[in-house]
Amino acid sequence: MRKFQAITLTLSLNLFFIFAPPLPANAVERSYISPETTADYIHSVIEADRTIYSEFIVERLNSTVNLPAGENWQEKDILPLPAQFLLAASRLVQENRLGMSYHLMSLWPVNPENGPKSDKEKAGLTEVSQTPGKPFTWIGKSNGTTMFNAVYPDIAVTKSCAECHNAHPKSPRNDFKKGDVMGGIHIAFPIEKTGSGSGSLDYAVSPEVVADYVHAVLDADRNIYADKVVHRLQKKKVIYATENWWEENSLLLPAQFLLNASELIRHRKPGLDFRLISLWPINPHNGAANEFESTGLKEVAEQPLRPYIGQTKVGNKNFFQAIYPDLAVTPACVGCHNSHAKSPKHDFKLFDVIGGIVVSVPLDQD
Ligand code: HEC
Ligand code: HEC
Repeated sequence: MRKFQAITLTLSLNLFFIFAPPLPANAVERSYISPETTADYIHSVIEADRTIYSEFIVERLNSTVNLPAGENWQEKDILPLPAQFLLAASRLVQENRLGMSYHLMSLWPVNPENGPKSDKEKAGLTEVSQTPGKPFTWIGKSNGTTMFNAVYPDIAVTKSCAECHNAHPKSPRNDFKKGDVMGGIHIAFPIEKTGSGSGSLDYAVSPEVVADYVHAVLDADRNIYADKVVHRLQKKKVIYATENWWEENSLLLPAQFLLNASELIRHRKPGLDFRLISLWPINPHNGAANEFESTGLKEVAEQPLRPYIGQTKVGNKNFFQAIYPDLAVTPACVGCHNSHAKSPKHDFKLFDVIGGIVVSVPLDQD
């Protein structure tokens, strides 16, 4: 297990200085992102959140304070399983009606409903269990829309993944080890035709849409975490979220959940980046870093329906940036920010805009 908390601060500080002031929103040029890269970005966010949840919540709290994860988490005062966490978040993403969806499946499912539902899914699962280094992809139609599909391997990132499946009476396979491919994640989204042929090079996704997808996953995971884990278990007085979660064997704050995931992604996927910022930050490092961010925060606080967008150059690389409002979705957000000694604002109400999530997507591909 690694601790990313401290480096997160230094890295976000560095970003303050690397990012030149972005051009105004109307200067955004028409550029596109390939379907493969889009799928990689979506997958890297799902995967980072899944790793943080499995390592920093499920495995750590099980071994330090005996707080288990289990199927009947709703009735018991315990944690949702990683698969249930992913499922709940993927439902939230689907409700957004962006057209993007994802789900978890396996050739050896504990729950028969999680088996492959088509020949393509079956082929994808077989392929990624043999060559987990790259996703299995195809282009297909769904209700008349051309969709890009990618199956990524789902790996036993902690030993608790393997142990729980091996011991489960309904598991058809009992010899998983840490690091094994246990199943796959199928991601699907609509693509736009940009060329004259029919291969994946003839299709693309606009950066606004890519940022929407990345944000949708981040937001869903953080909301499930804030609501089904933090708010629920705090209300039942089982465990609390605290800033010094590592030392205190407590839950990460929702902001820390997101920051740790963004740190993991910076390590794994150079380019894609996201930060949590606010006009009223508890942590001064989370303030607006430039004109674009402060204008964006003001705009989304007044008009939280669409993100504030722009383009920026870092060195000789171009980035598309979008700032999405970050809402106080549960009473836990409001209660903690209002009562925090370092918070410059103490009158947040439920569903107020507390700050924003900045998503940066690289535009030039090497
Ligand atoms: C405490 C037990 C437990 C732990 C820990 C656990 N799982 Fe599962 N997992 C389950 C159960 C039970 C299901 C079926 C959930 C459902 O009803 O859809 C499941 C579902 C899945 C599925 C979908 C296919 C299936 O078996 O139904 C995959 C893939 C999967 N888990 C992988 C993992 C990975 C990877 C990890 C670690 C990150 C993990 N699991 C951790 C119990 C566990
Ligand atoms: C138990 C306390 C607690 C809860 C619950 C909580 N926060 Fe925070 N939040 C913090 C702290 C502390 C920070 C500063 C973290 C850091 O050091 O970067 C923070 C950071 C933030 C930031 C970045 C700006 C800043 O204030 O530093 C935003 C935006 C934010 N939280 C929104 C939310 C939302 C939305 C929720 C509910 C989904 C939420 N918070 C729940 C304590 C909390």
